[in-house]
Amino acid sequence: MAQSYWITILPGDGIGPEIVEATLDILETVQELSGRFALIYEFHQAGAECYRETGQPITAEALEAFERANATLKGPVGLPGVRKPDGTEAGLLGGALRVDFDLYANVRPIKLFPNVHTPLAMNAPGSIDYVILRENSEGLYLSRGVGLKTRDAATDCMMMTRRGCERISRYAFRLALEKHRGAPQDGVRRVTLVDKSNVLRSYAFFRDIFQRVSSDYPEVATECLYMDAAAAALVNRPGHFHVIVTENMFGDILSDLGGATIGGLGMCPAANIGDRLAYFEPIHGSAPDIAGKNLANPTSQILSAAMMLQHLGEPEAAVMLKKAVWDLYAQKRIPLMPAGTVEGGAATVAKELKTVLNEAADRS
Ligand code: NAD
Ligand code: IPM
Ligand code: MN
Repeated sequence: MAQSYWITILPGDGIGPEIVEATLDILETVQELSGRFALIYEFHQAGAECYRETGQPITAEALEAFERANATLKGPVGLPGVRKPDGTEAGLLGGALRVDFDLYANVRPIKLFPNVHTPLAMNAPGSIDYVILRENSEGLYLSRGVGLKTRDAATDCMMMTRRGCERISRYAFRLALEKHRGAPQDGVRRVTLVDKSNVLRSYAFFRDIFQRVSSDYPEVATECLYMDAAAAALVNRPGHFHVIVTENMFGDILSDLGGATIGGLGMCPAANIGDRLAYFEPIHGSAPDIAGKNLANPTSQILSAAMMLQHLGEPEAAVMLKKAVWDLYAQKRIPLMPAGTVEGGAATVAKELKTVLNEAADRS
């Protein structure tokens, strides 16, 4: 009998519902072709529209479903116009999900697919293939909602804990060992810590812990880079990188930078993982500039679903889906535009991807 998984769906704001719908369409085909498992969905409200309606960015029912589910598939949330009196956005979920449920590992793969519009001269498919592991539970963003503000000054402070630095460092080394191969340029399994330990004590503290942890993994090469130099290196020599581990805000910024090198944010999936719960979402936001215009690339959401299948314990289905996405690009099946959008949007991609999945199944 097929294994059932309970999945909470949070479609989100802006392009969220468009790309989540396309992803669920694809997941239906994946389930049919696999025949091994069934996904049972429960839909809930969360995000900026939810805040407008209820005064909260996520409903109590959604939080309860999130805790109960085997995994959650989340679309992007937030609308820049929906803000709290302190000036920050009201429809975001970083605090309610990542911090409150201690989902400390934000895994953000950056991989160059065939035929995408990369601004880099180096553009062989697969020549960029690294993971940004963003610490998701502390760092500068731990100050969200609690910074101090007077009429003439405002401050947010950064916190690093020994436990937080140690567990994310270990996670990085385990990822480097699990990934199917080393860095594209030299095949080396390598973890790079990105920090500003030349300036701030908190980063020096993280670096010290990272270096101690590294001695438990002699089979993985390690290095440390300052954040400013790392930003340049991700443009100049992205093939050198394998796993990058870094503080919360640095990981946020570097992952969008990485996304720009591989055809845009619409190519970038992510997992938010803790010891008990996990959710899967693109790295990008709700893209209000293209919402409702049939331009969104749902690849980020679809690859997030592939990460979810892997996490649920369905690696064959995850590989089937990832391979089909690769073939979709290799066969130039979708009208990609230089800005990283797709003519026809999420539904067009879903239709073509279903064809690729079915053709691959017919061949095997
Ligand atoms: P954004 O990531 O939404 O968009 C940046 C640019 O990338 C835009 O030009 C957009 O059109 C493009 N883009 C993003 N996703 C795309 C896709 N799938 N296909 C094609 N193009 C895509 O960033 P923003 O405009 O700064 O933020 C919009 C809202 O999203 C804000 O409210 C922000 O706070 C929120 N946000 C939420 C998340 C999340 O839910 N995890 C992440 C980032 C931003
Ligand atoms: C991301 C986003 C979020 C973050 C915001 C919107 C809360 O930028 O997931 O990358 O900063 O973590
Ligand atoms: Mn971000």
